Amino acid sequence: MATGREDPGPPGVRPAEKDPAVTGMGTRPAGTASRSSALPLQRMFDSVHRYYDRSNRVLTLGCDQRWRRRCIEQLLAERPRRVLDLCCGTGDMALWLARLAAADCRIVALDFSRPMLETARAKAERLGPGPRIEFVEGDAAALPFPAAHFDGVTLGFAFRNLTYHNPRRERCLAELHRVLRPGGHLVFAETSQPAWRPWRAAVHLYHRLVVRHAGAWLGGNRDAYRYLAQSAADYLSAPQVVELLAAAGFREPGYRHLLGGVAAIFSARA
Ligand SMILES: C[S@@+](CC[C@H](N)C(=O)[O-])C[C@H]1O[C@@H](n2cnc3c(N)ncnc32)[C@H](O)[C@@H]1O
Repeated sequence: MATGREDPGPPGVRPAEKDPAVTGMGTRPAGTASRSSALPLQRMFDSVHRYYDRSNRVLTLGCDQRWRRRCIEQLLAERPRRVLDLCCGTGDMALWLARLAAADCRIVALDFSRPMLETARAKAERLGPGPRIEFVEGDAAALPFPAAHFDGVTLGFAFRNLTYHNPRRERCLAELHRVLRPGGHLVFAETSQPAWRPWRAAVHLYHRLVVRHAGAWLGGNRDAYRYLAQSAADYLSAPQVVELLAAAGFREPGYRHLLGGVAAIFSARA
């Protein structure tokens, strides 16, 4: 499982045209933004990009890619023409999109961590003849896209970052809603809270004894793993996330648990 290399994700990435509405809006490609005003969360993710994929595979015992794939399959069931992988990190969700979406589907992947984006871009380039995914460096609290631009938006284990003790939570949710066309589909994977108490206790113990200390033996920033473990253990239950989505103006919010509630796939409509 722990190969020491980044998992390239799904093979067979096809090239795609750039979206003029994105590139023509003053969005900055990775490698050009100022870093002087980096937020604490941004600095944290900047520091873990090398170890991020390996930790995901190890700490989820190999489940994370299967969960991502299921999430993307759900999003693609309605054959969206333009999709956003928000907070794309090292690009695993975007790579599943590139593999599974129809050839005419435009894929945009955004993150505010340049090192994460560079890792994602390198993975995409290794996998196919050209970049099918358009990578954008940007902030979820101020998305560089017009209103109603996307048919679908997904996030892989990043909704928590936008909403857990985040003072900009409302702005992020408003932006997420704004860039989806009315009726557009939001589908994301996130850690959750098992409903069955013994299982929940076991999962919390795992966070405390294993995930919290993973920085020490998997490499990377120890504080980052403490934050990840803490935020996952403290995070909202799936029904609470559904309430949050409804309060933010999303329609038909719902979820299905994965592995007894260790994670969940959430969906809602703008
Ligand atoms: C837990 S990682 C998830 C990465 C990826 N989606 C996956 O499936 O593994 C969270 C990502 O969200 C990004 N992120 C967090 N807050 C953000 C924000 N406000 N704007 C843009 N990216 C953000 C981080 O840089 C990081 O790459």
